[in-house]
Amino acid sequence: MAEEDIYIKNTPASKAFFEKLSQIIPGGVNTAIQFFKPYPLYMARGKGGKLWDLDGREYVDHCLAYGAMTAGHANPIIVEAIKEQAERGTLLGFQGEGADELAREIMRRYPYVEMLRFANTGMEATFYAVRLARGITGRTKVVKMEGSYHGANDVLLISDKPRRRILLGSIHNPASTPDSLGTPKENVEQTLVVHFNDADGLERVLKKHENEVAAIVTEPVLTNSGIITPEKDYFREVRRLCDEYGILLILDEVKTGCNLAEGGGSQLYGIEPDLVTFAKAIGGGSPLAAFGGKREYMEMITPLGGVVHYGTYNANPLSTAAGLACLKKVLTSNAYAKINNLGEELYKGVVDAIADTGIKAAVGRCTMMGCIFFGLDKVPKNYREASACDAAMWNKYWINMLNRGIIPSGSAWFEEWMVSAMHEPEDIQKTIQATYDTLKNIRGS
Ligand SMILES: Cc1ncc(COP(=O)(O)O)c(C=O)c1O
Repeated sequence: MAEEDIYIKNTPASKAFFEKLSQIIPGGVNTAIQFFKPYPLYMARGKGGKLWDLDGREYVDHCLAYGAMTAGHANPIIVEAIKEQAERGTLLGFQGEGADELAREIMRRYPYVEMLRFANTGMEATFYAVRLARGITGRTKVVKMEGSYHGANDVLLISDKPRRRILLGSIHNPASTPDSLGTPKENVEQTLVVHFNDADGLERVLKKHENEVAAIVTEPVLTNSGIITPEKDYFREVRRLCDEYGILLILDEVKTGCNLAEGGGSQLYGIEPDLVTFAKAIGGGSPLAAFGGKREYMEMITPLGGVVHYGTYNANPLSTAAGLACLKKVLTSNAYAKINNLGEELYKGVVDAIADTGIKAAVGRCTMMGCIFFGLDKVPKNYREASACDAAMWNKYWINMLNRGIIPSGSAWFEEWMVSAMHEPEDIQKTIQATYDTLKNIRGS
């Protein structure tokens, strides 16, 4: 039986729910990334490193809500913190005490952060960081990396995953292509696109647009393009260029922050940006984000300065309680050691499975995150190289893994696998075994 037919046979409740839901919710999902063919899976519950779908089928989960569930699903410590806070009020309209300890814990992990503000989503955090950089410099242009995703903001949703590869433009001079209809042309013109790991290309753009660029926005490790680590000295050069051209470096640690390490990519690669953005892991599964940086910059925010930042739910008590429990009690140094060990085991298992089955593929990895680039000989150094991978083969891998009870990553070739504090060695072994079976099946088909 074809794998897609097995999927349909296994998941009748998801199919029925999709048919019902898609009548009233476009595509039957509330974020497009959850959609895949023939129809998405719908989940009933999660616990630790596992999820159960509407048919009661169990999955080892390596998507982990795209990096938000590093604490593990329904982690008892976080559940208790949320329950306790709910009894005392979920939204008070005045700031509660949790924001203080949580901000200090983030600053302990990221010593260059002198002040921060909370928000609810990664998209808000990057939006406000860009607004702040524009307010500070009085300039409007921003530079971003081809293939990078920073939320669906008009200014940053440019040359992320254009519908056709040709829209990426010349390899020497990447184009600024809006990913969404409805993006104002004026907005597209404000966003300049360069390759990750290409300091020379960055310098060319900064020279050409001298005194026009407010900020460079980049992740420390390019995620959402598979997983691509920075080459040696790349960030030293980026920092030097920012200083030379009077530009702010905004480091987007929404996905990597408190995930790749206690202090995220900043700690791993010794990067000191001017502003940094967080979300996902810091909320322990609740909607919580933050942006922060040097005091002189953060003091430009209202009511101290003229850069506006609002939000009814900012630093709401439920999210700060969940975030605090997550960062102080769950994601301890012991937890990172466990997560990294399991991440290494998973990486090695996948590399062995590829070698043993003779499938042509490269494996990207940074601590607990990883991905398979099918059809590539070596790990790419930027999105352009990564996007030459065999996406059709990745789709086969995806459906095969689902049929074997594994959610190998987010639902597209450019997503990553993750490991949580609640995954167990047996989960990792199950994933490795399923990878072997899947690759053998793909090779045979
Ligand atoms: C690097 C990065 N920045 C920003 C965002 C946007 O975060 P959110 O989905 O919370 O708006 C994402 C989401 O995946 C992300 O991966």
